Amino acid sequence: MTDLLTRLGGLAYGGDYNPEQWPPEVQAEDMALMREAGVNLVTLGIFSWAMVEPEPGRYDWAWFDRVLDLLAENGIAVCLATMTASPPPWLARAHPETLPVRADGTVLGPGARQHFTPSSPVYRRYATRLVERLAIRYGAHPALAAWHVGNEYGCHVAESYGEVDAVAFRAWLRDRYGDLGALNAAWSTAFWSQRYGAWEEIEPPRAAPTFGNPAQRLDFRRFSSDALLACYRAERGVLRRVTPDVPVTTNFFPLGNPALDLHAWAAEEDVVSYDSYPDPADPEAHVAAAYAYDLMRSLKGGAPWLLLEQAPSAVNWRVVNRPKAPGRMRLGSWQAVARGADAVLFFQWRASRGGAEKFHSAMVPHAGPQSRTFAEVRELGRELAGSAELAGTRVLADAALVLDWPSWWALEQPSHPSGRLRQMGTNLAHYAPLWRAGVTCDVVRPGSDLSRYRLVVVPNLYLVSAADAENLTSYVRDGGHLVVSFFSGVVDEQDRIHAGGAPGPLAEVLGLHVTEFWPLAKGEHVDLAEPGTGWLGEGAARGTLWSEAPRLEGALALATFASGGPSGHAAITRHPYGEGVAYYLATRPDPATMRTFLDQVCAAASVHPAVSGLPDDAEAVIREATDGTRYVITLDHATADVRIDRA
Ligand code: GLA
Repeated sequence: MTDLLTRLGGLAYGGDYNPEQWPPEVQAEDMALMREAGVNLVTLGIFSWAMVEPEPGRYDWAWFDRVLDLLAENGIAVCLATMTASPPPWLARAHPETLPVRADGTVLGPGARQHFTPSSPVYRRYATRLVERLAIRYGAHPALAAWHVGNEYGCHVAESYGEVDAVAFRAWLRDRYGDLGALNAAWSTAFWSQRYGAWEEIEPPRAAPTFGNPAQRLDFRRFSSDALLACYRAERGVLRRVTPDVPVTTNFFPLGNPALDLHAWAAEEDVVSYDSYPDPADPEAHVAAAYAYDLMRSLKGGAPWLLLEQAPSAVNWRVVNRPKAPGRMRLGSWQAVARGADAVLFFQWRASRGGAEKFHSAMVPHAGPQSRTFAEVRELGRELAGSAELAGTRVLADAALVLDWPSWWALEQPSHPSGRLRQMGTNLAHYAPLWRAGVTCDVVRPGSDLSRYRLVVVPNLYLVSAADAENLTSYVRDGGHLVVSFFSGVVDEQDRIHAGGAPGPLAEVLGLHVTEFWPLAKGEHVDLAEPGTGWLGEGAARGTLWSEAPRLEGALALATFASGGPSGHAAITRHPYGEGVAYYLATRPDPATMRTFLDQVCAAASVHPAVSGLPDDAEAVIREATDGTRYVITLDHATADVRIDRA
């Protein structure tokens, strides 16, 4: 990564380059325009497998050689794709068992992309063979700066339920449990006569008459993330062997679909890459984008990450695809840089003339360089080139939110007290008030080292292991401020209810037990009252989405339910514990009340905004260089203003 940035001499700028979609003579114009736009990095070859290997084992490298040479001659570095995200049609014809299968048995065929199951040894064999050829051929090419493995693993096909997958799932389970007795216990198979007497009886959780076994489904999600990761690792293994000094990454697709456990994935990358597509029609999209960027930075302990894709303007895959208004692409790009990105790349360089993405915007639109989009692209390239000193600097954050994939997977299973509880909505309900208050947050796993944070917020941790609960508990014991929201600490790693019920192993630090859940219907709310503590602020305070009845065992009520099922019970509590304090929310306060509450928690924890006094729709983030130089990046989402100050 450092090598990549040193080589570029600053921030990376560019996009996906798919020259095979155009006649070769367009490439000369591409080079001239890339130079004009300040492009210094392209990701190349993402969907080129069928063009470089038109028949099994027959390669046509000549055209690809020319493109790489041309880029090198023009001083443009290449993040070279391994080309394995879309196998050629011949693979499906010769080996239909490489195709993915849905839970209902539907086989997904070629003609789009990502039509492979990661558990297919045949797919892996062909993929790694190609990767080896690529690495040997281009490993010493002057344009090669990094490897881009696959593309958005799991974005279309996160799980596959075929026979090949069943075999791999059983092997994964044997590895995890060792013997069937342990599996039967972990999956609670005494329920509904599900006990397994042989490994061969176990299948992926295919379409079934009613609710499937939740522990089986949870393990299948773990397995599916691991199966894709094994594909990535197989390719990376080849790359490490042939080109040990070239950094390896793969681009994560937009948060929302939790297919991959990004904590496990990021550990296998040299640098984290993310594709970001905030909806220009969504007035809150920049808040969710900020959350995603904070997560990307945190996945590798604060290391700079790469924004590997974003749209220069409109996408093609929403129902209505709005362009980005003037200035918004610049603002969104700087938002990623402010939050730790060292690269701003787009999908894609030149707009496709044919294919499913011909209406997706590109740096060079169909209308050519005489267009607003290209003018903005050129201007941003100039600006980023002038901010080279930001590369490698690190974001300062005193607060963190907790996120855990297995808990997310388990939370969103059916047959729960409420189907309205969604992990990302919950995360953002806690993140948005902190964002509006100007507080920079990392997003970390529950078992990570929390000692550097003054405040840790757990929006929801339905599934918690004893070790993670102890980590959160000792964080408070040692002086930390912790906020935990409802329906946390409910189950263990196998989705079995913790002894004594929620919040399970978090009961000690929170100083309470939950005796009843009272989830709320859409539009329903409960009133909150406070016994003169001042924690709710002015005006009516309401709880939404959820309510529950805690039994206090040391915690004190900061607010109580004044209506609804748990009327009279504590709704918000505070529990001094060891050197620190733990707060608990037994409901989702309305946004204004949530903000008032979190403002007070921040004040108590001495957590301050990076810059005080900013309007609510502005954000400021500080990036710090190793020599202590600080850069304050201020972005105003109301006016689309961007400022970068040395502080
Ligand atoms: C994803 C893919 C790209 C492209 C874009 C379109 O991010 O990685 O290949 O399809 O979506 O938005």
